[in-house]
Amino acid sequence: MKYYVSTPIYYVNAKPHLGHAYTTIVNDVLTRFHRLLGYDSYLLTGTDEHGDKIVRAAEREGRNPQQYADEISALFKAAWPKLNIETNDFIRTTEERHKKVVSAFMELVYKRGDIYFGEYGGHYCFGCERFYTEKELQDGLCPDHQTKPEYISEKNYFFRMSNYQDWLIDYIKANPTFIRPERYKNEVLGFLRDPLEDLCITRPKSRLTWGIDVPFDEGFVTYVWFDALINYISALGWPDGELYQKYWPVAQHTIAKDILKPHAIFWPTMLQSAGLPLYKHLNVHGYWQIGFSKMSKSIGNVVEALAMADRYGNDPFRYFLMREMNFGLDSEFSEDRLVDRYNSDLANDLGNLWQRALAMLQKFSHSQVPILALKGLGQSDDAEWARRFENLVTEYSKHFEEVNPRAALTAVWEFVGLLNKTIDSEAPWALAKDPSKAERLSTVMARLVKGLALLGALVWPVMPATGAEMWRRLGLDPAQITIDNDRILTMLSHGREIKAGSAFFPRIETTETKTRGKNQADKTKTDAESAEGTKTKALACCTEAAGLDEAPKDGVQTIETITIDDFKRLELRVGKVLAAEALPKSLKLIKLTVSLGDSERTVVAGIGRHYQPEDLVGRFIVVIANLAPAKLMGVESKGMVLCATQRDSDGGERLTLLTVASEIAPGSKIS
Ligand code: ME8
Ligand code: MG
Repeated sequence: MKYYVSTPIYYVNAKPHLGHAYTTIVNDVLTRFHRLLGYDSYLLTGTDEHGDKIVRAAEREGRNPQQYADEISALFKAAWPKLNIETNDFIRTTEERHKKVVSAFMELVYKRGDIYFGEYGGHYCFGCERFYTEKELQDGLCPDHQTKPEYISEKNYFFRMSNYQDWLIDYIKANPTFIRPERYKNEVLGFLRDPLEDLCITRPKSRLTWGIDVPFDEGFVTYVWFDALINYISALGWPDGELYQKYWPVAQHTIAKDILKPHAIFWPTMLQSAGLPLYKHLNVHGYWQIGFSKMSKSIGNVVEALAMADRYGNDPFRYFLMREMNFGLDSEFSEDRLVDRYNSDLANDLGNLWQRALAMLQKFSHSQVPILALKGLGQSDDAEWARRFENLVTEYSKHFEEVNPRAALTAVWEFVGLLNKTIDSEAPWALAKDPSKAERLSTVMARLVKGLALLGALVWPVMPATGAEMWRRLGLDPAQITIDNDRILTMLSHGREIKAGSAFFPRIETTETKTRGKNQADKTKTDAESAEGTKTKALACCTEAAGLDEAPKDGVQTIETITIDDFKRLELRVGKVLAAEALPKSLKLIKLTVSLGDSERTVVAGIGRHYQPEDLVGRFIVVIANLAPAKLMGVESKGMVLCATQRDSDGGERLTLLTVASEIAPGSKIS
């Protein structure tokens, strides 16, 4: 059984960012999932290095295009192993092996009579490296980059894409999962309702030399897309490479919606013209957005993916991306959301389960896998649990086959909940006190061991380091990791020793989680009282993105009224900043020493992206003085600084500190 999936080859005009990391991680997850099932799997990625915009970017940096491409391509290549992504090959379009294949492919299409010479005028967007028709522009601007395209008229070679329009429509209709999820299939069928124009596939060398020579006319180079798409077969050594024979028949491509048209229309028609079989599936995902704007390097609003992974760990970062995005739809990225997911799913649910279960296995099974009970001797509920295990694997696999990592993880987390519940209801600590319940206890322990081993394998594609460590704790070899329940059972039956170790996902403490945690723990509080956490959050600027969750999605914001007594519960005071320093390892936290007149205190504020520490000293600010203390990156913060935040239409954010209109003694009460 074979599996082959590719990422887009990324342009080298900017550094790797979250969007690139997401697509590449999804593919790593899919490849690892197939490896769990025993497939022979292959993951291809690389960089797209020709064309005008690379030349322009290189010029801006004072480099020649090749030097520049070498540097940026190396950044992409180095990024993936750091995110624990295992690729099988990294193709660069400036490599000889690629150029050779592009030439041969073009020659073939030319011989078929599908390439002709003609004149064309159109609105050219350099960001997209393509012509737009009048109709496609929005108020005369490129719909993607919001820039004015240049009108260019020149003689070029064209690919007779129009010849394949009817064939392509029929093909897509006959193969309903060729483009998935369905919304993108429908979008493509929508494009194809209008007549398809032929594709201009060259640029005259008088305008652009940074490309691959056209084999039948030395005055031209190939158009970037014609060049780039062929990477998916050049890397496999088409036409007679062994890898091509082996993997092309099962090929899948994963992309975001921005490059749907080239992949769903140009590429299949090119393949059909050249007489090659088509790829099997095009997996299309949505966009990560920050604030309200689409995130892309040409807009410049990007999250440093690697910085996030460094701060929270690779596995939690990968988990967040897979769990948060509904494949096919857009998602909003926020660091707060990542921390929320970490604390609820990883620390509370998964981490806690392992912590409890391993402790019980040590205590009640003497750190040994309970072998006899594993075989289910005499236990009536064993069959039911075996069925559960099987159903889970079936459901999980179905979701991954359909490229829905979020649904697969949701199923796994339901199972985590079930195991946590079984510990509560079976109460092993009580069974252990009653000698007549020994058999029952060992059945429950066996159920846990099987469950944990399966869980380790199920999380492994998304969290490889965690999955492997889970298997090691159970005395299993991660190199043998599998979701085949029978095989897991056989491995466990060989008398394994269970190892202790540190907790998997220690909680991340923030002001917010502190408040929330307290509210959850203190069950005697009234609803009104526990809503307090939400209110303080709305005022907070302790975390940079505070308020993001509350952003009105539909333009309607409901504001809860409070009484004067509610307000009086806040102890607001004027503070004078005596000292300020950035917290190491944090991009946004600044530690302030604030005078409140009769006392001094430390307040940690999430304003590091907006203020330099030295700008803060001597300022009069507004502090919530009676906020419960919270630890932020190891520093105890007593109170909170007030700020106003403005969200700009481009998704950026402005933040300004609240201060007083004239000098007043530190400690003065605000009412
Ligand atoms: O288009 N959210 O390269 P590119 C999610 N060279 N994914 C995102 C994203 C976001 N905000 N931004 C980028 C090219 N991506 C061509 C491809 S393929 C033969 C040639 C990811 O560097 C996503 O995978 O602009 C998207 O399709 C790709 O980066 C575009 O990368
Ligand atoms: Mg792009």
